[in-house]
Amino acid sequence: MAQQHAKGKLTARERLDLLLDPGSFVELDRFVTHRSTDFGLEKQKILGDGVVTGYGRVDGRLVYVFSQDFTVFGGSLAEAHAEKICKVMDLAVQNGAPIIGLNDSGGARIQEGVVSLGGYADIFLRNTLTSGVVPQISAILGPCAGGAVYSPAITDFVFMVRGISYMFVTGPNVVKTVTHEDVTHEELGGADVHASVSGVAHFAHDSEVECLNEIRRLLGFVPGNNVDSPPVRHTQDPPDRRDEELLTIVPDNPNKPYDMHEVIRRVVDDGELLEVHREYATNLIVGFARLAGHPVGVIANQPAMLAGVLDIKASGKGARFIRFCDAFNIPLLTFEDVPGFLPGVDQEHGGIIKQGAKLLYSYAEATVPKLTVITRKAYGGAYDVMSSRHVRGDFNIGWPTAEIAVMGPKGAAEILFKRDLAAASDPDAKLDEVVAEYRDKFANPYLAAARGFLDDVIDPRETRPRLISALQTLLTKRQSVHPRKHGNIPL
Ligand code: HXC
Repeated sequence: MAQQHAKGKLTARERLDLLLDPGSFVELDRFVTHRSTDFGLEKQKILGDGVVTGYGRVDGRLVYVFSQDFTVFGGSLAEAHAEKICKVMDLAVQNGAPIIGLNDSGGARIQEGVVSLGGYADIFLRNTLTSGVVPQISAILGPCAGGAVYSPAITDFVFMVRGISYMFVTGPNVVKTVTHEDVTHEELGGADVHASVSGVAHFAHDSEVECLNEIRRLLGFVPGNNVDSPPVRHTQDPPDRRDEELLTIVPDNPNKPYDMHEVIRRVVDDGELLEVHREYATNLIVGFARLAGHPVGVIANQPAMLAGVLDIKASGKGARFIRFCDAFNIPLLTFEDVPGFLPGVDQEHGGIIKQGAKLLYSYAEATVPKLTVITRKAYGGAYDVMSSRHVRGDFNIGWPTAEIAVMGPKGAAEILFKRDLAAASDPDAKLDEVVAEYRDKFANPYLAAARGFLDDVIDPRETRPRLISALQTLLTKRQSVHPRKHGNIPL
């Protein structure tokens, strides 16, 4: 324990004390030991076999937990250790409660060989079969290397802590041998790298205390299982609150950025947004908020970053978040200001076609209530993708500043009026004229509203009351899907 503290880490039990409501933890299987007799293991039987498992409460709600104990065989995973984890996973599914894993392990216990590998595979299978049934949360609070990374990777949310956690398939030594790259643990698979570059981690924190607190906060937005509704929390924030600032938040110049966080905060309860993947693909904002106490999953283009364009990373980020919300009955609230998909050789060769298709597919298959506010641009395919009426959006509204069109006015005018522009004595003046003409005609929300593609064009100050009124009508929404084994999302 002293060694663990010297590394700046908490022990397995200290972590559970911080994660769970005081006094609520009930331990299971503390008398379990391994059955191995190789490499002198028969002389080293330690009660619990390197993992503390059981159940407890977070804000009074049931959760199942396992917390790997690095002080016992380096938290390494072998037969008995894996059986204990599988038992709490099975109980979580059977009893409809989230499962939270606190990972701190040297990986497969070397002395138990293939039995250890089998233990991992038993967990991977459960992670997969549990996906979409109960929420699965992983905190990486130490090493997590080799095949061991694939359990957290399948879970819904991965939390990491700067300085103490790292995840990689092959560590710095192997990397050096194979590719001759010199890289530290932190640079290869630390919290910041996974939270901002690879997207493997959804959250990076400065301390374990902060990390465990944030897991508690996240649980406040999600139901225990896929047949429960998400927990409603009372708020003092009035449902009919108008916000004056929303009237002027979108700049007059359509090419000027503004921060979509501001829009979100002014609409949702108490200005609270629990942002997921805050440092990754920042051109799209995703996270949890509440409307009149009801949790919603917010997906929002961010005009302040790359003009809010959709690229490969943002598409994957959005798709995974939408699918989590849909699996767990959390309504989707989309704020849209998107000029389209990002052009470029990198993007095309990187598969923006199939990556963007993931986002489209996720929105289209989602059957939870879907609310959409178009604040400004909704151009091209991105208009269709971002929870449009056509992909079963339930309540679609625009602000008067909304521009819904096949493309931006300049690009459109250059194509439509190509001949006129070529023949004009002053092409720039002609271009200004035709752009203005196009803008007047198409760059507004009224053509879409005339078709019923938008339910209304609203005063931006009314956004919160209008969304809450719509959400209340949608809480009883039922939408069935054709029976099938599963769809084939473009992966
Ligand atoms: C058995 C292990 C162990 C392991 C650590 N220990 N890892 N015992 N199997 N995998 C033991 C150590 O022998 C030591 O025991 C104690 O745990 C603490 O380890 P230290 O090395 O002293 O700690 P530290 O210096 O902090 O280094 C931590 C470490 C290092 C980086 C994790 O221990 C390490 O490299 N371990 C091996 C990692 C590994 O290669 N694992 C297999 C990966 S493959 P004593 O008795 O001395 O205190 C894998 C595949 C999964 O996991 C497959 C899934 C498909």
